Amino acid sequence: MAEIKHKSEPDTIETEFKNEKDLIFFVGGILKKIQGWCSLDKAQKLVETIVQTKPELCVEIGVFGGSSYIPQALALKHNKKGVVYGIDPWTCEDALEEMKDEANIGWWGTLKIEDVYKHCLKNIDYYQVNDYCKILRDKSENVVDTFEDESIDLLHIDGNHSEALSYKDAVMYLPKLKSGGHIFFDDIWWMEENKVTTRKAIVYLLEHCTREDIVEDCMILVKN
Ligand SMILES: C[S@@+](CC[C@H](N)C(=O)[O-])C[C@H]1O[C@@H](n2cnc3c(N)ncnc32)[C@H](O)[C@@H]1O
Repeated sequence: MAEIKHKSEPDTIETEFKNEKDLIFFVGGILKKIQGWCSLDKAQKLVETIVQTKPELCVEIGVFGGSSYIPQALALKHNKKGVVYGIDPWTCEDALEEMKDEANIGWWGTLKIEDVYKHCLKNIDYYQVNDYCKILRDKSENVVDTFEDESIDLLHIDGNHSEALSYKDAVMYLPKLKSGGHIFFDDIWWMEENKVTTRKAIVYLLEHCTREDIVEDCMILVKN
């Protein structure tokens, strides 16, 4: 995971681009500076989907430092419309809920997550995407009623990867997605105790959606 410092850089940076290609090139260059795990291929797919489909409402569950969130916000800025909600409680307690793997428990248990939250907010300012961002600092299950049924155009599920909570996210948020809307579901092969914890959620989503693509460990689905 990248460590961020905008040391000796200006307070903000120019983020208006002539075309989609320039935007994707820029996004490729900033991923290493943003704390998180979003790969270039996944960021590119998010940006392309947003530029092509021109969504009004995007929702990301699990934001961390913003490595997948900021590319979405930049794509909305490029479209000059839309908003991306970022839902994350940014607490170690919530990150650890249902977690079984000792190495993961150790990592999250010692993380200074308040610094990650501040880093995310700083990135929103730095990349000048405030007009396209809304942060909800809470668990996904607590804020689901923020969204009307069939209102979300693009949903990125990348929060708690336990079987219980990833399944809950899928079941609670699917009705909020428009028919024809996109879901990016991350970590489709997340393992704990020799079991793929996200499988139950994926199986559920595949009953209601059509698989469009898989980019690394992220499945992209379209709601039927
Ligand atoms: C894998 S990280 C997200 C990575 C980010 N999308 C990226 O690409 O870098 C998972 C995030 O989910 C958050 N999280 C944990 N439990 C959650 C919950 N119940 N609701 C929403 N977010 C949650 C954690 O705080 C953590 O920041």
